[in-house]
Amino acid sequence: MSMKIPFFNYKQSKESFRYMEGHTPEHIAIIMDGNGRWARKRGLPRVAGHKEGISAVVKIVKAAVKCKVKILTLYTFSTENWKRPKTEVDVILRLPKEFLQVYLPELISNNVRIEAIGDMGKLPAHTREAIQYAIDRTRDNDGLQLNFALNYGSRNEILHAIKEMYADINEAKLSLDELDEQKFSKYLYTEGLPEPDLLIRTGGEKRLSNFLLWQLAYTEFWFTDVLWPDFSEKEFLHALEEYRQRKRRYGGI
Ligand code: IPE
Ligand code: IPE
Ligand code: MG
Repeated sequence: MSMKIPFFNYKQSKESFRYMEGHTPEHIAIIMDGNGRWARKRGLPRVAGHKEGISAVVKIVKAAVKCKVKILTLYTFSTENWKRPKTEVDVILRLPKEFLQVYLPELISNNVRIEAIGDMGKLPAHTREAIQYAIDRTRDNDGLQLNFALNYGSRNEILHAIKEMYADINEAKLSLDELDEQKFSKYLYTEGLPEPDLLIRTGGEKRLSNFLLWQLAYTEFWFTDVLWPDFSEKEFLHALEEYRQRKRRYGGI
């Protein structure tokens, strides 16, 4: 969190701090969109855009580490992205492994912890194993938490949560009377994570595309036409700067 806030009072609770303007978002979620259009503009196949997207991931992870962001959640593959041609899906699902093969040592030396959210069971084994290896290797790191949303879809997540919750109610581990928003959140893939403070979507579209519908209830949104492979630290810092100007009221005054 930024220490440059003139009125920052260290004695204030974390909760009241969250209501103040002027700080770095603790959790940033990004919809990394525009890879296909980036490639098409250059007369390249769409998959060239996905490969180039990795360089933007590297830049933004570095920027997030520098800015002391605590959690960065990257929308990498949605439950709807299976509708794409198999050849494209295959390339996208090989990218986590390709990325980690090259960058895991650097991520480890930067104290980054890797995590994943989504319906991982339906991914190819090589994708799952690469991610699981990185999760295991970075488990004790306490710097930036880098979450990959893989085969993630919010509706799938909510239904999955309801099914798990129903099982717990049946086994009397949970009673319907004590069920509240906080308890429900524990059944989501994002269990234990604070909700995103800032959502960034690149690529010009202004929609959520089934991303974190529950968790984004009070998140600040920032959209840019810049295509993901062109997204740079400069734009990332611009988003952070605009976030600092926002006043979050959470329904209050
Ligand atoms: C985002 O880029 C990456 C994934 C969805 C995996 P797109 O592939 O959606 O790029 P556009 O939106 O077609 O340009
Ligand atoms: C959202 O982008 C999914 C990811 C970035 C992984 P899409 O390109 O799939 O979203 P739509 O289809 O334009 O809504
Ligand atoms: Mg897209």
